[in-house]
Amino acid sequence: MRLFRSLFIVGLVPLLSGRASGGESVPTFNKDVAPILFNNCSNCHRPNEVGPFPLLTYEDARKRSKLIAEITGKKIMPPWKPSVGHDVFKDARTLTDEQIGVFKAWVEAGSPEGEAKDLPPQPKFPEGWHAGEPDMILKVGKPFTIPAEGPDIYVHFVLPLNFDKDKYVKAVQILPTNRKVAHHGVIILDGSGTARKLAQKHGGDHYPNFGGPGFLPRGFLPGYAPGQTTRLEKSDKVSITVAKGTDIVLQMHYHPIGKDVTDQPQIGLYFTDKKPERNINIVGMANNDVFIPAGAKDFKRTDSFTLPADFEVENIWGHMHMIGREMKVWAELPDGKKKDLLLISDWDFNWQDTYHYKKPFVLPKGTVVKAEWTWVNTADNPRNPNSPPKLITWGEGSTDEMSGLIIGGITVNPKDEGPMWIPVILHYLDIERKAVEATEKRKATQATK
Ligand code: HEC
Repeated sequence: MRLFRSLFIVGLVPLLSGRASGGESVPTFNKDVAPILFNNCSNCHRPNEVGPFPLLTYEDARKRSKLIAEITGKKIMPPWKPSVGHDVFKDARTLTDEQIGVFKAWVEAGSPEGEAKDLPPQPKFPEGWHAGEPDMILKVGKPFTIPAEGPDIYVHFVLPLNFDKDKYVKAVQILPTNRKVAHHGVIILDGSGTARKLAQKHGGDHYPNFGGPGFLPRGFLPGYAPGQTTRLEKSDKVSITVAKGTDIVLQMHYHPIGKDVTDQPQIGLYFTDKKPERNINIVGMANNDVFIPAGAKDFKRTDSFTLPADFEVENIWGHMHMIGREMKVWAELPDGKKKDLLLISDWDFNWQDTYHYKKPFVLPKGTVVKAEWTWVNTADNPRNPNSPPKLITWGEGSTDEMSGLIIGGITVNPKDEGPMWIPVILHYLDIERKAVEATEKRKATQATK
């Protein structure tokens, strides 16, 4: 017995000191785990952030060590959806296989804390306005209530700018008051006055989601994603023109957290006097003929758009709702080559980012951009809002479905900047027309049955 015990102790001592008997290093929290958490997790997993618990101390991590190893092993955390382009997107929230291995080995070693001297300092995160006091602060009129339970909420806050001339924005920060519930924010520019009217119709300064903002955007400003830092770019080239007469529409996505809470977001704008050298163009794609029968396993829709000019692609954003499963975007170049732009094969409604390419690339005039959306309306899709599954059609609520894709970039030739909007708008109208036609055709076939 005594022998056993001493063997046990002999075996344990090296473990505690972070060394296995073979001389091989055993990962400890202080030395190996904390740096990974501080760099990849704590920006969301800290007090008043979107993560459901902090990951800042040994105790925080030890309590959940198995869950952390499991969830990082399955690549559920950190949340990052694109599979093509792990390495081609900026600020990708991904771990290396080695880092994932550290969590696993740490749990297998009994989650040791390690030596105090190895612990890096607590990470610091910017609070308030990251880039200093903004030139202009817009504030949502009154606190908006997010109920304890229920589906995710998409709301559009309308913030009139009333500019008497065009202004150039070089940075933007969205500052929610309650970051626990704030999942995403998108700033959409409305030059049509439609958003104001929609808000008035709903008796205030905001209106619900119509599967989209309910108008054709004039453009976008940078949005809000949890844990992100706003920086001021040095170059004025990247500023964005906000034309006179434009209203800001802030689309917030809230995720209920089990108790009633409120949020009253603000937007901070930083201006420059310098007119941007170039303005962003967008390509919008969708297929709104969405009619997904109960039980449909792989319901697919596609859309394609031929580029009217050489176009330098900078970012990409895709959209589906709850039962969306896969989103695939690629380009067929005039020389016959194919280029993958985005693949999300485990679509998650809760994590929809705009993905920025590390190195923008040119797609030549005549390139056909193709998008394919796949939905799974079966009972074994864990995100199916209906049990048993039922017919899901295109619509405004998060339990209806939608498809969407926006690609942002600049035309290579400045002369193409204005003209490129024409085919883009025509394509948008075409999407609407096709959806109406498909619905009518379906009604007609049903009527003759
Ligand atoms: C961008 C923000 C963000 C980052 C970065 C992030 N998380 Fe999370 N995490 C969340 C949110 C939000 C949830 C709650 C579930 C959800 O909404 O997907 C969550 C949930 C979890 C859970 C609980 C999952 C469950 O099923 O109960 C674990 C464990 C976790 N995160 C670990 C990590 C680890 C480890 C990292 C870093 C390697 C990390 N997270 C990085 C936002 C983040």
